[in-house]
Amino acid sequence: MATSVLVSYATKYGSTKEAAEVIAESLRDAGLQVEIIPAHLVNKIEQYELIILGAPLIMFRWHNDAKRFLKRHKRTLQNKTLIIFALGPITTPYVEKEWLGARAQLDKELNKFPWLKPLEIKIFGGRFDLSKAGFFMKKFAGNIPPTDAMDIEAIRDWASSLKEKL
Ligand SMILES: Cc1cc2nc3c(=O)[nH]c(=O)nc-3n(C[C@H](O)[C@H](O)[C@H](O)COP(=O)(O)O)c2cc1C
Repeated sequence: MATSVLVSYATKYGSTKEAAEVIAESLRDAGLQVEIIPAHLVNKIEQYELIILGAPLIMFRWHNDAKRFLKRHKRTLQNKTLIIFALGPITTPYVEKEWLGARAQLDKELNKFPWLKPLEIKIFGGRFDLSKAGFFMKKFAGNIPPTDAMDIEAIRDWASSLKEKL
């Protein structure tokens, strides 16, 4: 029987959904049986052997739907293999400080769940496009041009390496 995997995600502007889709596709290609469901719509996780949960960092916080997922499924998650990812850094080319900052923000958020023992925690580059943001964000952020630090190949490669780590 193929390993049964849930890829679950939260997103505000869509890039984490895209990353989750790349991960799901890559795991299917590796022969795993994968479902992909937004975090706020997941009712039951008992049937999965591996859970991959991803969400963006927004304003120093990990998306609330992901944190709610952890709270809601706490008991079952303690007996499952869990992998976590976050989208955050948006500057190109690569700025190390930004990536370390994103990881520190995520660690701070995950520390709120001391029972959590993920097999792996991963940061990916994200996308920033103010034209998708709401009125207040546009007013707050001014004229920041769109950036794209998403590396789809890196996401795919990471996902296809997971099977070996299980
Ligand atoms: C309003 C706003 C605030 C953000 N704040 C952070 C942050 O605090 N830390 C970080 O690493 N990335 C931050 N980012 C970058 C996002 O994580 C990145 O744009 C990500 O791709 C968004 O994911 P989504 O498209 O799934 O919503 C921010 C982006 C936006 C638009």
